[in-house]
Amino acid sequence: MKTLILGAGKMVEAILIGLKEETDLSNYILYSPSGESAKKLAQSIGCRYVLSLDEVAGVDFVWLGCKPQQLKALASSINGKFKHATFVSLLAAVPEIDQLKILAVNKLVRVMPNLPVKFKRGVTLLSSSSAKEDLKKVKSLFSLLGLAQEVMESELDELTLLTGSGPALFYEFTKCLLHSFSSLTPAEREILSRMVLQGAGEAVARDNHDLDGMINAVTSKGGVTLAVLENWRKNGLDKLISDGVRSGVKRSEEIRDSLLHN
Ligand SMILES: NC(=O)c1ccc[n+]([C@@H]2O[C@H](COP(=O)([O-])OP(=O)(O)OC[C@H]3O[C@@H](n4cnc5c(N)ncnc54)[C@H](OP(=O)(O)O)[C@@H]3O)[C@@H](O)[C@H]2O)c1
Repeated sequence: MKTLILGAGKMVEAILIGLKEETDLSNYILYSPSGESAKKLAQSIGCRYVLSLDEVAGVDFVWLGCKPQQLKALASSINGKFKHATFVSLLAAVPEIDQLKILAVNKLVRVMPNLPVKFKRGVTLLSSSSAKEDLKKVKSLFSLLGLAQEVMESELDELTLLTGSGPALFYEFTKCLLHSFSSLTPAEREILSRMVLQGAGEAVARDNHDLDGMINAVTSKGGVTLAVLENWRKNGLDKLISDGVRSGVKRSEEIRDSLLHN
């Protein structure tokens, strides 16, 4: 399957590094407008890159690896080429139907991975109404990089903040936690905290208990861990988090509206 990838930024890089050990990438071709990111990534992965889309024909899949705000510029650069290909879009916020219209193509699968695909510990959500058969092929490819799950488009849009953004949210929480202490230097506390995060992640992967069960295993009645948790619960940590998520949803709607109405 010949695959053209438009954009070679952080997410495309993570996917290709993850895939490199799992599958043959010799049929993958990279393109980016500056040429620089595509060249650098192609050289490190060992696949082809092109400086002009006129060098490319007969592709089966075209991945969209740019930002949502760059979609219209991308559409004008492909200018009706690759009409018979299936598009695989990494873009957040823009509905499938609007991406099909902007690109003037017929088949598109939306894919929402997260950066840990690089280490084959990713979560990828997928949805498509226009290319259900190809969705299965794309899903098996992303299954090589961790958990890949087909969902409805509305679910992909809502859960992007949990899975796509999720790693940054856990890192921010870890930063807040480590800055609540004063022993050692912040850099030394970061080493400890990263190991705690890594150990907690490993435990989540191997332990069969649900999250409540895992919290209970650390806490004891009247103990110090419970004192922290009860304070957070009383002070509305859950509301703080859900308010933050609502800001993300609002921003996603603004990006979609500005793209569709300009
Ligand atoms: N980063 C994440 O954690 C994450 C998570 C989930 C989903 N995503 C999705 O992944 C997509 C890419 O995000 P990113 O973080 O990888 O962005 P990024 O690092 O900024 O990379 C964007 C890439 O798009 C290229 N590009 C810009 N305009 C283009 C055009 N007109 N045609 C083709 N390529 C173009 C850029 O090329 P130049 O280098 O030439 O400028 C660059 O290689 C976004 O749609 C985002 O929603 C990202």
